[in-house]
Amino acid sequence: MFSAKFLLAALSLAAVPSSLTLGGELASPSITACTGTINPPDGCATISVVSASCINLTGTLSSLNKAVSWAQVPDGLVCTFFQDRDCSNGGVNAHDVAVLEGGTWDMSDVEGIGGPQNFSDQTSSISCSPL
Ligand SMILES: *[C@@H]1O[C@H](CO)[C@@H](O)[C@H](O)[C@H]1NC(C)=O
Ligand SMILES: *[C@@H]1O[C@H](CO)[C@@H](O)[C@H](O)[C@H]1NC(C)=O
Repeated sequence: MFSAKFLLAALSLAAVPSSLTLGGELASPSITACTGTINPPDGCATISVVSASCINLTGTLSSLNKAVSWAQVPDGLVCTFFQDRDCSNGGVNAHDVAVLEGGTWDMSDVEGIGGPQNFSDQTSSISCSPL
């Protein structure tokens, strides 16, 4: 937990637009999140993810805050989408997260900790890890 927070702090200090890569060598995985449909793309953004670090939908991503309706996660990653900022959730039975593995997802029908739920327009932060 401490190391994730530390990484998070380091990451936000080094914040760069998600379209930039660091020398093009550190191939970091990315997810796609859209305010409209993903196909055809409507209001989509590519978000670079660093394992276990929290991404708030603020700053350049603020248009996605509470507005994500479709998302794509690459194979090999599992991403938790949180209703609250700072990747915090209310507990093991909370309905305030959606957990997405590789695939293309309609956020109105996704798995939460408590079962399937409508998570459209709910996401405020995202955290991804390798499977
Ligand atoms: C995310 O937002 C929360 C609440 O505004 C803030 O406490 C936290 O530091 C932010 N985290 C990042 C990684 O920006
Ligand atoms: C899901 O929630 C969104 C946002 O509240 C709402 O607009 C939409 O109608 C809901 N969809 C379903 C299938 O309930």
